[in-house]
Amino acid sequence: MRIVVGITGGIAAYKAVGVVRGLVLAGHDVHVVATEAALKFVGRPTLEAMSRNLVHTDLYDGVAEVRHVALGQSADLIIVAPATANTIAKIAAGTADDLLGTTILASTAPLVLAPAMHTEMWSNAATVANIATLRERGVHILGPASGQLTGADSGLGRMVEPDELVAAALAIVGPRDLAGLRFLVTAGGTREPLDPVRFIGNRSSGKQGVAIARAAAARGAEVLLVVANIEDADILNGIAAGGGIEVQEVSTTAELRDAVHAASPAADVVVMTAAVADYRPETVAEVKIKKEVAGDTLDLHLVRNPDILKELTGARPAGQTIIGFAAETEPDRDALLELGRAKAARKGVDLLVINRVGWSEGFGTERNAIIVVSGAGDIVAEAEGLKDAVAHCILDLVPDLRSSP
Ligand code: CTP
Repeated sequence: MRIVVGITGGIAAYKAVGVVRGLVLAGHDVHVVATEAALKFVGRPTLEAMSRNLVHTDLYDGVAEVRHVALGQSADLIIVAPATANTIAKIAAGTADDLLGTTILASTAPLVLAPAMHTEMWSNAATVANIATLRERGVHILGPASGQLTGADSGLGRMVEPDELVAAALAIVGPRDLAGLRFLVTAGGTREPLDPVRFIGNRSSGKQGVAIARAAAARGAEVLLVVANIEDADILNGIAAGGGIEVQEVSTTAELRDAVHAASPAADVVVMTAAVADYRPETVAEVKIKKEVAGDTLDLHLVRNPDILKELTGARPAGQTIIGFAAETEPDRDALLELGRAKAARKGVDLLVINRVGWSEGFGTERNAIIVVSGAGDIVAEAEGLKDAVAHCILDLVPDLRSSP
């Protein structure tokens, strides 16, 4: 999507950097329109680096390309964050004395405002009337939140947090093609303890699974996200209760299996993104394994874990859609596809997302490259890009799967 982010002159302008970043990471083409006042709070180079586009400020720049209307006409969504009391008043009045004003007036795209101001300004009758006018016109007002303000005071007036704003704004414009569906998504990697302080694990960061959960929720689904050992708190940032995602934490394969089996009967769609340990130590030492006791070599005896995905497809309730992942290190595309096709058949899934992993690919990175095959082994999609964009490509396949007998 082409998104215009309008930034106006309030202290919360620094938070707009996070908004721009979140939108870019979600795969969108972001164009910043900053007022002169906004650039006193946050620098143009930061905004250009984050948005990966030039920052626009002046009504008289790019006149030949009629920029004052072109930006608004081509936008799919406009977000103004922070929206100061002054900007809100100007938008309500239809003022067009700066580039943000003309952009908004020239656009028919959904408009989202994230107000930020002191409590007194927010509750002033003028602002209250302006907000009411804008709401009546269909403008989406997100926030403000309550909490610590710029000074020593606190109250209603904080700009909503960037992650929440991004999720809510995208949900407003995104397709709601998954509304009414219950998703069970697993993410992360299971760990099998050896003793109280050590485990066998894998390098799955959880990013792709969480991206799928977020994307499904943004498209209207109700999501239970079972996460195994997601270490980077940023990955789960902004998944607030009420946003359509319930998070359940597990660690071992046995815990993941219990959680999945408890939730799967009620799920319309199951997405097994988690990297599941295939083996676990047969016994877990009660106390730390000591070198003096173990000696120069340590033999670990590992036993096979149950294949949760196979159990799910074996006991699938009528109408349930099951999507598996395949983590493969095979570099050759044809050989990779063969491995994926065999895995899809073996696991009995509706879709298998084949995902090359390695020392520098797949696990832990921001991007992913996938090939999706059907249960019969046909290639039904291929995608490469940020994990959020890849998540949407996978979810694009779900409505058709649900409607075919
Ligand atoms: N999976 C599972 N339970 C396991 C192992 C894997 O549910 N014990 C699921 C994963 O969540 C993933 C899919 O099965 O959706 C494939 O996982 P992957 O690790 O690629 O395959 P394996 O089953 O381990 O097969 P192989 O050892 O041949 O790679």
